Amino acid sequence: MNSFGEKLRFSTFGESHGTAIGCLLDGVPAGLKIDEEYIQSELDRRKPGKSEFETARKEADKVEILSGVFEGLSTGTPIAMIIYNTNQKSKDYTNIKDVFRPGHADFTYFHKYGLRDYRGGGRSSARETAARVAAGAIAKLMIADLNISVMSGISEIAGIKGESFDYSEAKDSLIYALDKTKEQAQKDAILEAKNNHDSVGGVARVLIKGAPAGLGQPMYYKLDGVLASAMMGLNAVKAVEIGDGVLSSRTLGSQNNDEIRSGGFESNHAGGILGGISNGDEIVVNIYFKPTPSIFIEQHTVTTSNEEVDFSLKGRHDPCVAIRGSVVCESMAALVIADMLLLNMGSNMTGLTKYYK
Ligand SMILES: Cc1cc2nc3c(=O)[nH]c(=O)nc-3n(C[C@H](O)[C@H](O)[C@H](O)COP(=O)(O)O)c2cc1C
Repeated sequence: MNSFGEKLRFSTFGESHGTAIGCLLDGVPAGLKIDEEYIQSELDRRKPGKSEFETARKEADKVEILSGVFEGLSTGTPIAMIIYNTNQKSKDYTNIKDVFRPGHADFTYFHKYGLRDYRGGGRSSARETAARVAAGAIAKLMIADLNISVMSGISEIAGIKGESFDYSEAKDSLIYALDKTKEQAQKDAILEAKNNHDSVGGVARVLIKGAPAGLGQPMYYKLDGVLASAMMGLNAVKAVEIGDGVLSSRTLGSQNNDEIRSGGFESNHAGGILGGISNGDEIVVNIYFKPTPSIFIEQHTVTTSNEEVDFSLKGRHDPCVAIRGSVVCESMAALVIADMLLLNMGSNMTGLTKYYK
């Protein structure tokens, strides 16, 4: 199950320490201007090694388009993209060859497949998410043509919660912080954990602006359901909220309802989705990341033959995966919206007649 989406469908391939990773994106309509520099700039936002708040693994993450584009335009055929791995240090992982890292997928991959690519976590590594960002960049180009934009940032790190959400500020922050007044405390928390050979969790916030009312396919391809699946399917994500999310279970109906006026909704507790369908308001998704499992503190674990051992990890790891993870959330949101736009064309006769007449 390495594919996602219905009409706009992408499949990814590759492992952390293999030759390359990449994706095949199928369903992009012909005639979309494919700006390769833009795709690269999106990968640059996710790539590792940009600051002390990220893993020291330095990957250029240079993306190459192999098919589906001719003279700068999509041809309507599958778009294949490849990113070569250039900075693997597989020998860092020889000490975990036969042991399971607590919190990582080593244990479950081994018990499912009966073998495991221990080099950098193989397919379970978030290295795979670079391919999602490449696909997401094309989805962003698609929806930008319809004046829909997706942005993201970090609202919370190690329990230090931002109260304001400034997406343009977040772009220039090394930790993509949405609230400048909390940024320093959030950075300090990351570095303190890192210096203690530990890691911290965080919350990413995605905002989708300009989506028309009507996106989402009840019953089993509802917009909120698919967004949640897109985000939960991402490494280290433990919870997803649409709009007020968990908070809405603690408020009264009179507080939670978004009252309606001729000009639109008076509030947006729903996060822009009602009945699994976009209501034309801003779509807000909060994504909760756990702390990076690979830490350098000695921990109890077992070997592949169930022998108990205490071990200390080597290698290079993100002290807070939410930071780079937020960029991937943004890409996944764009892919979901683009897919929903294509699916929506068949929802009622107006959609069809608009297209064919
Ligand atoms: C952008 C990103 C970077 C990550 N980097 C690391 C890392 O350097 N080390 C690590 O142990 N886990 C890292 N992870 C998390 C693991 O991939 C993830 O925790 C692991 O696959 C187990 O899956 P689960 O946490 O979803 O259960 C990262 C996740 C993301 C989204």
